[in-house]
Amino acid sequence: MSLLEQLVAETKETFKSRFGRDPRWVVAAPGRVNLIGEHTDYNDGFVFPMAIERYTVIAADSREGDTGDTATIYSVGLDEQVDIRIRQPIAPQDQVKWWSYVQGTVAGCLDAGLQPEPFDAVIASDVPLGGGLSSSAALEASTATLIETMTGTTLDRIRKMFLCQKAEHEYAKMPCGIMDQYASIMAEKDHLLLLDCRSQQAEMVPLSDPSVSVLIINSNVKHELTGSEYPERRAQCHRVAGILGKPALRDATMEMLEAAKDQMDDVHFRRARHVIGEDIRTAAAAEALKQGDWDTVGRNMYASHFSLRDDYEVSCEEIDVLVDIAQSIGREGGVIGSRITGGGFGGCTVSLVETSKVGEVADAIARAYKEKTGIEPTLFATRPAQGAMVL
Ligand code: GLA
Repeated sequence: MSLLEQLVAETKETFKSRFGRDPRWVVAAPGRVNLIGEHTDYNDGFVFPMAIERYTVIAADSREGDTGDTATIYSVGLDEQVDIRIRQPIAPQDQVKWWSYVQGTVAGCLDAGLQPEPFDAVIASDVPLGGGLSSSAALEASTATLIETMTGTTLDRIRKMFLCQKAEHEYAKMPCGIMDQYASIMAEKDHLLLLDCRSQQAEMVPLSDPSVSVLIINSNVKHELTGSEYPERRAQCHRVAGILGKPALRDATMEMLEAAKDQMDDVHFRRARHVIGEDIRTAAAAEALKQGDWDTVGRNMYASHFSLRDDYEVSCEEIDVLVDIAQSIGREGGVIGSRITGGGFGGCTVSLVETSKVGEVADAIARAYKEKTGIEPTLFATRPAQGAMVL
């Protein structure tokens, strides 16, 4: 049984014991890992993510004869049940709770003309929470998929992605780009998505070489204290684009940035240098991956990490330790490349590792990390998974 099949079986079982009947619908949407192209999505640039074999599953059924306006939703992970309104668009609340993502997505579906009947649902997930693997996008994408299925409607997938992003912006108060929701909805098994965040078009790039594996290591630390770091970076990028007279940093070159250096402070200069460089690295890594030139892919992953650490300043000590250990194991030990993934300030690293050595590498990194930080990491290897689906 795959992890997903197992999670689906458990979710259905929980639904049955809680609500006394079998669920009529089961949907799932995955988390994602970004191989390279970090903090470029809200600069209209390029990202290179894939869905992971970790999902949020929802089992649901409508309530016969109920003319009310609520859905009852139980979260297995948090052991919490809430009623949310489903007839009227619900206004965002001041406090962000786990169900804010569900409410925001339902509100978006209502806006799009999808009107679900009162229903019961159980949500279960094996996407690590707050680890930079898009647990929130998985929750939004699975919710939107559920409402589509319940109402017999298929939304245009770009519209669906934006509706989920809007839920994140307004109901979770996180001004994210489009990468996470796009990957969770559009991803295809065995493929990375080379996504142009301006045109919203993705090229599906096969990751079919069985000799290379994607290893995700959760540092199990989170240092984002105020939540203001991400919006602050976003604003800094926007400011530099303005100084350069460009719609977005996607349109700027290193030469333009250098030429305008005295019009901004060092922090703004370094933020923009990261973004402009990251777009170049992402294109280079994607091209190299297509050619099977793993050394070039790896080199760009490390360069991305150092730029996120030094110029964009979104890494942290524990994550740097993980990348450092991976790099010291090196190509001879089976590590192709490694870097922080996701928004930053903790969370996970993504590494490309030779499949034949993935067990050894995982053990060695876990051991060294524990030794250096006292923290137990969580590790798993994954293939590129399928995006949101009805089961
Ligand atoms: C978070 C956001 C994404 C993206 C990444 C950084 O995951 O949700 O939109 O900006 O950070 O690449």
